[in-house]
Amino acid sequence: MIIALDGPAAAGKGTLARALADDLGLAYLDTGSLYRATGVAVLQAGGDPADAAAAERAAQTLDLAKIRPQDLRTEAAGDAASKVAAIPGVRAALLDYQRRFAHSPPDGKRGAVLDGRDIGTVVCPDADVKIFVTASLEERSRRRVKELRDKGETVIESRVFADMQARDARDQGRGVAPLKPADDAFVLDTSGLDAQGALAAAKAYIESKSKR
Ligand code: DC
Repeated sequence: MIIALDGPAAAGKGTLARALADDLGLAYLDTGSLYRATGVAVLQAGGDPADAAAAERAAQTLDLAKIRPQDLRTEAAGDAASKVAAIPGVRAALLDYQRRFAHSPPDGKRGAVLDGRDIGTVVCPDADVKIFVTASLEERSRRRVKELRDKGETVIESRVFADMQARDARDQGRGVAPLKPADDAFVLDTSGLDAQGALAAAKAYIESKSKR
């Protein structure tokens, strides 16, 4: 069983994907971390994430063990990720890994949940379940501010809002694998939902689909 969760930043995809994977006994892959790791690798080598040759080389030789998990969750990593993600050679280099994970999940699991931007449209167009997880820009920006403050970072709300708007525009406007719901995706707006509410709505959809 393959479950594809796509959507913009801070829509609640990661939390929902982890909860669904736990609940259904599936493996979980956060595909954004592959783009983040590629962006961080370029920065650590002193390069520019928008430089196609440098970014492609980093994606082709990516070694996740060399990057500390806490370095992936910073705003700088997210910004670098959205730049390398617009480069076709980077996306091609990361595609195989994602497809292999989906079709042969680790630890003998019977399936996988992948979250990202193009799972239902490009990586796994044959996924059994596709959910496009979204929320208003205001709500996503509020969540990101809270997440950063909880980590002890000083944040300017208007800056987080503008950065998120810029990241959305870049993810939706790129020529290759832009962020958009697959034609057969269920759109789940989490604006008024907490994590439990989102999980309940996703499970209700999955159950209704399996009965059809
Ligand atoms: O979900 P995230 O914030 O960790 O993603 C970081 C960046 O990577 C984001 O700007 C979009 C990009 N990305 C992508 O293009 N395709 C994916 N499948 C996952 C992430």
